[in-house]
Amino acid sequence: MVKIVETSVRDGHQSLFATRMTTEEVVRLCRIYDKAGFHAIEVWGGATFDSCMRFLNEDPWERLRQVRAVCKNTKLQMLFRGQNILGYRHYSDDVVDMFCRKSIENGIDIIRVFDALNDVRNLEMAVKATKKYGGECQIAMSYTTSPVHTVEYYVKLAKEIEKMGADSICIKDMAGVLIPEDATRLVTALKKEIKLPLELHSHCTAGVCEMTYMAAIRAGVDIVDTSMSPLSNGTAQPSTQALNTSLKGTKYDPKLNLEAIHEAEPIVSAIVDKYLKNGLLNPKSFEVNPNILKYQVPGGMLSNLIKQLTDQDAMDKYEEVLREIPVVRKDLGYPPLVTPMSQMVGTQAVLNILNGERYKIVAKEVKDYLHGRYGKTPAPVNEDVRKKIIGDDEVITCRPADLLEPEFEKLKAQYQNIARSDEDVLSLALFEQVATQFLTRKYNPAPEVETEEFEMFI
Ligand code: CO
Repeated sequence: MVKIVETSVRDGHQSLFATRMTTEEVVRLCRIYDKAGFHAIEVWGGATFDSCMRFLNEDPWERLRQVRAVCKNTKLQMLFRGQNILGYRHYSDDVVDMFCRKSIENGIDIIRVFDALNDVRNLEMAVKATKKYGGECQIAMSYTTSPVHTVEYYVKLAKEIEKMGADSICIKDMAGVLIPEDATRLVTALKKEIKLPLELHSHCTAGVCEMTYMAAIRAGVDIVDTSMSPLSNGTAQPSTQALNTSLKGTKYDPKLNLEAIHEAEPIVSAIVDKYLKNGLLNPKSFEVNPNILKYQVPGGMLSNLIKQLTDQDAMDKYEEVLREIPVVRKDLGYPPLVTPMSQMVGTQAVLNILNGERYKIVAKEVKDYLHGRYGKTPAPVNEDVRKKIIGDDEVITCRPADLLEPEFEKLKAQYQNIARSDEDVLSLALFEQVATQFLTRKYNPAPEVETEEFEMFI
């Protein structure tokens, strides 16, 4: 039997309409999903945390507690970016520890941790903390294609992950570039060498995902991520209902409770209609994009490039920039194109082409990366390029977080006027500006102005 992780209330709406589903909608669905027989519901983390405060004026911790209250039978899962937690910089170990602790205390069962570079040292702390507070830890391997990202590379990585004490492993194909034949080879090899349960997470953007899932299932994958239709396909995961039906009567049958599925369907439909109507969900998000496989670049990165080039009035350079991406990626040691590497590589390719010279102008993040501050690169970087950008600067080779002082107590003291709980301190630590504005509104609501009828004009 294949197990299903339902993603519509996290990755589904994150991929399709910029993570704008409200807590009320998430809770309404989770109450029903709890009866469906899913292995887990992915409900928190990723961009949901920032989006709650920034766009919805909602407390992400409160969302988690409300979901937990209506999910008595199903595990709740979150996505966690290793030492970056849910933010964009490296945090000290005590902040990572506290974030895992509070996530679990507020209701998370499974923490899915990944690192953009697959540098396991950036995952160590999150694994340790998750286990310490009684959570289940899944480590996700960022999947990409390159001369170094071979089946052997992933088997070796998975063996390290097994040794680290993870409870399960996930192949995280954020770009949707895993094709069926490669999935068969990868899953077969991993199942042969690894004892831990194996999960597959991919996206339908390139149009091959359902075929890839079937190939992976036949090769022995234990768990797959799907999203309730019509909040599925396009830039999101394959449809939960379609996969459940396709496997009916086979030894892989996920045996979902159809009554619960049918109960949720009109609600999901109404939510999709709402976001189509208000324009947040662009119908183009449901189209198959063949460029993903042609250029091996995630959909989000392609749309960012188009926006950057349009802003610069340079769309005529689009093809040239696309050809520059593999060059930059090779120079940087083949990083998987996932946040924050996808932004770095994309922006650098644009700068190289628009300036007519490679690495004449370089973003601060790329300099940090070349200093070793993001961790170990999958392949060695091009030393000529490194020299051109950072000269003879010292390059760190230790675990980047080893250089960070503990910061939680400092942050707590710093924010004592705004934060009323450790959860608030964590929100502020990750998104200082957004959380300051949100918490100020939350704890100091605008006073209700008393009005009195009087003759204003006499
Ligand atoms: Co995803």
